Amino acid sequence: MSQTDFIKDIAKYGLENDQARLLASLNELIDHAKKSKRINFALQLQSILKDSIRQQQTSGLLKVGSPQHHQREEDREVSEFILEQLTSDYHFESLVCTDSVKEELSYFIKEHQALEVLHKFDLPVSNKVLFYGPPGCGKTLASYVLAGELEKMMLVVNLGAIVSSKLGETSKNLAKIFRRAAQEDCIVFIDEFDTLGKVRDYSQDHGEMKRVVNTLLQLFDYLPSSSVVIAATNQIDMIDEALLRRFDLKVNLELPDADHILELIKKTLKSGLVELDKKNSLKSIVEGCQGLSYYAIQRTLITAVKRSVIAHSRTSLTKPRVDTKLWLDLVTKEKQQLTAR
Ligand SMILES: Nc1ncnc2c1ncn2[C@@H]1O[C@H](COP(=O)(O)OP(=O)(O)O)[C@@H](O)[C@H]1O
Ligand SMILES: [Mg+2]
Repeated sequence: MSQTDFIKDIAKYGLENDQARLLASLNELIDHAKKSKRINFALQLQSILKDSIRQQQTSGLLKVGSPQHHQREEDREVSEFILEQLTSDYHFESLVCTDSVKEELSYFIKEHQALEVLHKFDLPVSNKVLFYGPPGCGKTLASYVLAGELEKMMLVVNLGAIVSSKLGETSKNLAKIFRRAAQEDCIVFIDEFDTLGKVRDYSQDHGEMKRVVNTLLQLFDYLPSSSVVIAATNQIDMIDEALLRRFDLKVNLELPDADHILELIKKTLKSGLVELDKKNSLKSIVEGCQGLSYYAIQRTLITAVKRSVIAHSRTSLTKPRVDTKLWLDLVTKEKQQLTAR
């Protein structure tokens, strides 16, 4: 069947209110989309389907205290804890990193592709990753890459909403998010994970902080193997030791070295529409960029590209050249701001 056939069926069964056939057709369309490599579409459709089934089960007049009523309350709360729900088509090519990082990440992905084999041999599946390192070096990007490569939906946790000053509340909220992740078979992304270690700062209560850590340890232990937790932090030293040990994979995303800077420049200019001028050698550019994050290097380069393209539009040269002097000036300014901080 083609996609248009599925859509015709779905319209028909929808209008006829034939719920059972409608669901069957939607599921077939999801399978069809997966097979034809339209993963984002498939995941989004799947998520709509699950949400709607959950809503139907808990809609209307419900007896207070009934399981459906609990579920509805929880759904309402959980939606506050989710900053966004997304699918990704980022892949490895987007991320510049060391070979060892690449290798570790690709083993991680392979484990998930071989879930059944590992289960057969009663082997545990790695599903908890921590990305750490300075800002702008790809922690969020690497998480999107994992979501894209694993072909899973990602729930981005809203830590601001989860961390509560009320005693015991933070732990309960975390449990709810993890319950949802298990239902949805997806990735939970917790950015600024160190925040969870800082609960003691404002509650002045070591007990509360311990409770949060213990809850996380338990949630980690009971996480179904097809769900994945990705945490990210700029401050790994703030995180509890026992919690750190629970991560299957701890990936350090560092500032780029000379080769990585070159790779980033190439990737950023890959469209081939513009090229660097010859005012500065690549070597001196790379030296100039040392010490800056991927993000800062890319941003200054794009600014230089934009300004050069605008200036070029007033000339008759064939291909715009990126003014590397202008770029290096921006880089220098960026570094001055870094040292001033
Ligand atoms: N390792 C990297 N490889 C390629 N691009 C990167 C890398 N790190 C950062 N970038 C660029 O900078 C942007 C911001 O990076 P991000 O992943 O949000 O950093 P972090 O989460 O570590 O603060 C990315 O969207 C990407 O454009
Ligand atoms: Mg980030």
